[in-house]
Amino acid sequence: MTITKAVVPAAGLGTRFLPATKSTPKEMLPVVDKPAIQYVVEEAVAAGLEDVLMITGRSKHSLSDHFDAMPEVESALEAKGDTDRLARVRKSSALADIHYVRQGEPLGLGHAVLRAKRHVGNEPFAVLLGDDLIDERDPLLPRMLEVAEERGGCVLALMEVPREQISLYGCAVVEQTDDDDVVRVTGLVEKPSVEEAPSNLAVIGRYVLDPEIFEVLERTQPGRGGEIQLTDALAELAGEDAAKGRGVYGVVFRGRRYDTGDRLDYIKAVVQIAVAREDLGPDLRAWLTEFTAGGME
Ligand code: UTP
Repeated sequence: MTITKAVVPAAGLGTRFLPATKSTPKEMLPVVDKPAIQYVVEEAVAAGLEDVLMITGRSKHSLSDHFDAMPEVESALEAKGDTDRLARVRKSSALADIHYVRQGEPLGLGHAVLRAKRHVGNEPFAVLLGDDLIDERDPLLPRMLEVAEERGGCVLALMEVPREQISLYGCAVVEQTDDDDVVRVTGLVEKPSVEEAPSNLAVIGRYVLDPEIFEVLERTQPGRGGEIQLTDALAELAGEDAAKGRGVYGVVFRGRRYDTGDRLDYIKAVVQIAVAREDLGPDLRAWLTEFTAGGME
């Protein structure tokens, strides 16, 4: 079955980025000159998913306004003949068929995904976390969609992280498959301590999910941090009951990824993406070289 729908949860509280996120969702923080969420929607569209459901919370308006047309600004740019900026503004409002649903209370990522049930129906779908950027030079989602179409079940994106960082992530227990970059996930633990972690494979913010996840999420109790965890529902599908379901697979990603909800990673994303741009890269590179040579003061 061809997968056409993407769900983008963007209703978290963003406490790691306070006070910037008091009245702005962290997904709206600009990475160079686009908010993080626009990169995520562009990634979904590039992978052929043009039906995007955004799960929103407080300050929903800035998210939906961003993907709306902006007639006053567009006519001002048109009158000035500023075609470049006009094209950039228009691109953000004509990207995809975007729908919105409110989460209500931020009860966890699993709860946010469950809010997509009515819109998604009985089809497999992708989930892209709105604060997690995958560098467009290292496409990941097309490979995950391919694996889901070949094998069925759910497909997670996994990334090797230094062992001391594993407690920031969901952590996977895996078995190798005959595909180099694909593993079978046999267990999952949300944010384990370094000592308890079964591997250094972290779950990152891209998923392709079978609709059977909704049924599991409906009975998933709050777990770590009192939140309904998507990882706990996936652990059920990966674990003992796997024979009944269609299994959980992981694609091991070795490209560039940025967690823009983390302050340091956010700064790295801005620098790395700006350095790669034709308009800003050359000047920024020259300045960075000077800055680092000068002892970074
Ligand atoms: P995070 O755990 O990074 O989000 O969720 P958070 O709780 O906002 O972050 P901090 O720790 O307080 O800074 C990952 C993704 O899931 C969404 C977030 O918006 C983010 O895109 N999310 C999380 C929801 O949509 N709803 C929730 O209840 C929790």
